Amino acid sequence: MAKIFVTRKILDVGIEKLKSRYEVIVNPYDKVLSKEELIAALRADKYDAVLCLLTDKIDAEVFDAAGSQCKIFANYAVGFDNIDLVAARAKNIMITNTPGVLTDTVAEHTFALMLAISHRIAEADKFTRAGKYVGWAPELLLGTNLSRKIIGVVGLGRIGSRVAHHAVHGFDARVIYHDVKRNEEFEKEFGAEFKENVEDLLRAADFVSLHVPLLPATKHLINAERLKLMKPSAYLINTSRGPVVDEAALVFALQNKIIRGAALDVFENEPKLALGLAELDNVIITPHIASATEETRSKMSEMAADNIIVALDGGVPPNLVVLQK
Ligand code: GLV
Ligand code: GLV
Repeated sequence: MAKIFVTRKILDVGIEKLKSRYEVIVNPYDKVLSKEELIAALRADKYDAVLCLLTDKIDAEVFDAAGSQCKIFANYAVGFDNIDLVAARAKNIMITNTPGVLTDTVAEHTFALMLAISHRIAEADKFTRAGKYVGWAPELLLGTNLSRKIIGVVGLGRIGSRVAHHAVHGFDARVIYHDVKRNEEFEKEFGAEFKENVEDLLRAADFVSLHVPLLPATKHLINAERLKLMKPSAYLINTSRGPVVDEAALVFALQNKIIRGAALDVFENEPKLALGLAELDNVIITPHIASATEETRSKMSEMAADNIIVALDGGVPPNLVVLQK
C-alpha cells in the first residue's frame, strides 16, 4: 500500500479520503515541523506522496530526504513560494496547489479588512469595550467611505478579479489594476483601467489591494519610495504574501501618516511582526487567516488529497504547478 506523509493535521475530509486508499502518517504534533524534523520524519520511512503546508520550506534537501519513490508534494495552499520548483523538477517530483476553492473566501477577507480599516472597526471595538463610549458625538471615530472610491488591484488573478467584482458590484467603486498581463475583456466587463506601472496605480488609488504571488520580482514591490507615491488618505491591504511589502517601511509610513492606514493578513517574517506594527491604531492585523473558513479549508483538504490520488494513480493531478521559465 502506498504511504503518505502529512506534515501537519489538516481538516479531516482529505485525510479520510487518503486513509481509504493508503497508509497515512500525520505529524502527531499540532505544530510546524522544523526543517530538521521534517527531514528526519521523511527519512524514517519511504513515502510515495507528501501533503505539505505553506509553513513548510520545501527544498532540494527535503526532496532528497523523501527519496526517489516519492512522486508528489501536494501543497495545502494556493501559494507555493514555500517550494523550490526548480529542485522539484530536477527530482521529477510533481507539485500541486489548491487554487479556486479559496478565491471567494480570500476576496471576502480582503473586504473584511478594507471595511474594518476604513470604518475603524477594531479601534471602535476596543474603545467601546474600554468603557470610553459616554455618548454619541459628531466627530467620534471618523472613518472613510469605500463606496465609489478608486480601488487599485495589484495582480489580476482569480482573487484580484473577485475583489474587483465586489468593488464594482458591491460598492460602485472604480477599479484600476496593474498586472504583468493586460486583460481587455476584464476592462470592458468592469469598466476597469489598466495601469502599466504600479507607480501610476499607487498615485491614483484610494485603496490598494495586493494579490500577486511572491516571486523575486514582487518581493518588496511596495517599498518606502512607492509608499510615498500613495495618497495620504489611502489604505494598503495585503492578503497575498508578507514579503511583497517592506514591512519596516510600512510601519514608518503608518507612523508618519504617509498613508492613512493598512490592513494585513500576511507578514514579512511570519509569525513575527515588524517592530512597532502592533502598537499602531491605523492598522488591522489578522494572523494569515484569509482562507480560513470551515468550508474552504475543507475543500482545500479534499483538493490536496485528490491531487495525490490522481498522481499515485499515474495521472496528471488537476492542480499541477508548472514551472514557468
Ligand atoms: C494561503 O496563504 C494560501 O496560499 O493558500
Ligand atoms: C490565486 O488564487 C489568484 O489567482 O489570485
